[in-house]
Order: sequence, then C-alpha cells, then structure tokens
Amino acid sequence: MPREKSVKVTEQAPSFPPARILGIESSCDETAAAVVENGRSILSSLVASQVDLHAQFGGVFPEVASRQHIRAIYPIIEQALQRAHLSLNELDAIAVTRGPGLPGSLVVGINTAKGLALGSGLPLVGINHLEAHIYSAWIDLETGGETRSESRLEHGDERRDAHRGAPSFPLLALIVSGGHTELILIRGHLQYERLGATLDDAAGEAFDKVARLINLGYPGGPSIERAAENGNPRAFAFPRAWLEGTWDFSFSGLKTAVLREVRRLEENLRPLPAADLAASFQAAVVEVLVGKTIQAAEAFGAVEILVAGGVSANQALRQEIQARASWPVHIPHISLCTDNAAMIAAAGYYRFIHGQRDTLAMDVLPNWPLSEVSPPA
Ligand code: KG4
Ligand code: ZN
Repeated sequence: MPREKSVKVTEQAPSFPPARILGIESSCDETAAAVVENGRSILSSLVASQVDLHAQFGGVFPEVASRQHIRAIYPIIEQALQRAHLSLNELDAIAVTRGPGLPGSLVVGINTAKGLALGSGLPLVGINHLEAHIYSAWIDLETGGETRSESRLEHGDERRDAHRGAPSFPLLALIVSGGHTELILIRGHLQYERLGATLDDAAGEAFDKVARLINLGYPGGPSIERAAENGNPRAFAFPRAWLEGTWDFSFSGLKTAVLREVRRLEENLRPLPAADLAASFQAAVVEVLVGKTIQAAEAFGAVEILVAGGVSANQALRQEIQARASWPVHIPHISLCTDNAAMIAAAGYYRFIHGQRDTLAMDVLPNWPLSEVSPPA
C-alpha cells in the first residue's frame, strides 16, 4: 500500500474551552464514575469491579452484572463527586457510555445519567465505549487529583514507558479489549476510519478463552501474563494469522492450536506446562498485533501510534511495541487500560466542546461500531 504524505497536527493548548465532566461507565462488569477536567486531568476516578462475582462463572454473567450495577452506581457517583470536592452544579456536563456493551448493563448507566441530567439541568453526552478507550490516552496523570497519586504509588515507574503529551494526528490506533480488536486511522478529533478488525475472537477474548483451557483464572489476560513470566515464549510454535493484504486479525486458529496441544498433552497423561503455553500464546498474539500496527502506521502515514483497551495493560505488548515502533507510542497509564469512567469523561469533553448534546430520548446502542459515531459538528 502506498505511503501517504502527512502533516503532523499538534493540538493548540489554548484553543479548547475549559470544562469539567462527570463520566459514568457501566457497559460490562465495572461500575465506574469519574470527574475529569479539560479532557486530561483526573479530579477523581473510581471503579467498582465485579470481577470476583463473575469469576465463579468463568466470564461475565449479564443478569448478575446489571443487578450489581444498580447497587453500585449511585454510591460510586457520590464518591466521585466527593473526592473531586465538587457538586453536580459545579460541572459542565454528564458523559455516559451508550454502547457498545451489554444492554442490561448499559441501561443502568444511561438511566442514571438521564436522571442526574434532568435533576441538575446539565447537558447529557452519550459516548461510544471504543472512542473512550482511545481518549484514555489523552489523560495526563501528572497533574493533580488523588487517583493520580494513588496510581503513582502503585505503578511508580510505569509512566516512563509511554510517550507523554497529547497524541498528534494522523494517529494509528490499535484498540484491543475483551470485545474488540480494531485498527483505526484517526485524522483529527472524533474522526475515525476503521482499517480492519478481528474476524472472530477479540484479543482479550482469546486471552480469556485460552486461560480457561490451561486452567488459569478469570480474567484471562492478567493470569496469562503472570503465568507467562516463568515460561518460554518459544516452547510451542503457535500459528500467527497475518491475513496478508488486509488490516484484519484472527485469533480463533491460535486458540484451536492451543486446544490441540492441551488435548495431546492430556492424552499422553502429561502435566500441562501452563507457563510455557501461556508465554507461547502471548508471544503469538503480541507479534501479530505489533507487526500489523506498525505496518498500518507506515502504510497510512501516521505520525504517532496509540494502543488502548484492556489488553494494552499487557507488559509484553507494551514493551514490544515501544521497542519495535519508530513512531512515538501512546499507551494509557496501566490503571486506565481496563474499563474506567475517566476515559468516558475524557471523550465526553471532546464531544461536549464540539457541540454534542443528547436528549432524554437517547437510548443504549449495544452494537455501535466506531465507524458509525457522528463526526464533529
Ligand atoms: O477494555 P476492557 O476492560 O473491557 C472491554 O471493553 O472489553 O478489556 C477487558 C479485556 C479482558 O479480555 C481481559 O482479559 C483483557 O482485557 N486484559 C488483558 C490484560 N488485562 C486485561 N489482556 C492481556 N494482558 C493483560 N494484562
Ligand atoms: Zn472496554
């Protein structure tokens, strides 16, 4: 594919008006609320994870998730406001995840946001969850806020590994989460061109399924990453689906290859070498994700790369893309890779300042491709 000529577009700091946004997220199994200033500074960010509830099912149980969201959502919003030392009427808008996600979970967040908007008179801004993962890379953990200092203590050296400052356009984004694996070309704020996506399992889904196959805990991503630390990534030669000539991905063949290996070992009454299986599987996923992202950045003349979504918490992926890409690489702080509400508020800021206002008639969109979100007005 020909390399396009591109001009680096750097954000002009004073060109956007200030605003404080309350973000609400409930698309899957995390109930979260946050207050973010100017799309970049976290004033508070809280996540009530349901992971322990769902671990017994080996995955998210939708009815359990929505019931738990109902219990958690008001307390978590109250706490987010308290920690930001702000009341609702000191904010500028309420941003809430509209989709994609589980319908019964999304509806809890949306209805709560509508109630708060109605009561306070604040504008309501519906957000695409994938767009929010992208905007998590705009959040600057260096400025103010208690969540930032908490995460600084937990992840002291973490932020040195990613490029600092707001991303520049054109930007090549790899979104890797539990439900999506997509390569997106972003030419400016809120302008997305989907280049390719997974044809079957999402990368995070593959981590979760393979973890189950080799008897590791849920969620699979973190447990595979932990097991892989003691494993040999070359122990098993698992396949890499390059899907040449497309920007698509496929992980089901890799999952089947792991399954075949597990069956073979079990038939021979051999103990499962979980660490080697995990390391070899993770290496195969990371090699394809990094390889295709770099190829796409080159082909489309991107000036920077962004990696976001739950799987971007993976250290092997973070290290390999930093090592191999000759572009500045933006990866959210590890505390912002998996679902949170700060990213909803960050995306909400850019939508709010570009004039988006939703009405109380706004409904959930459980299947909402990023390519179908509206461009800036
Ligand atoms: O973005 P996210 O929190 O939720 C969705 O929008 O789907 O992503 C969750 C996914 C899960 O599949 C989880 O296993 C994966 O992200 N994940 C990881 C890691 N942490 C979470 N995958 C690989 N390595 C990790 N450290
Ligand atoms: Zn997500």
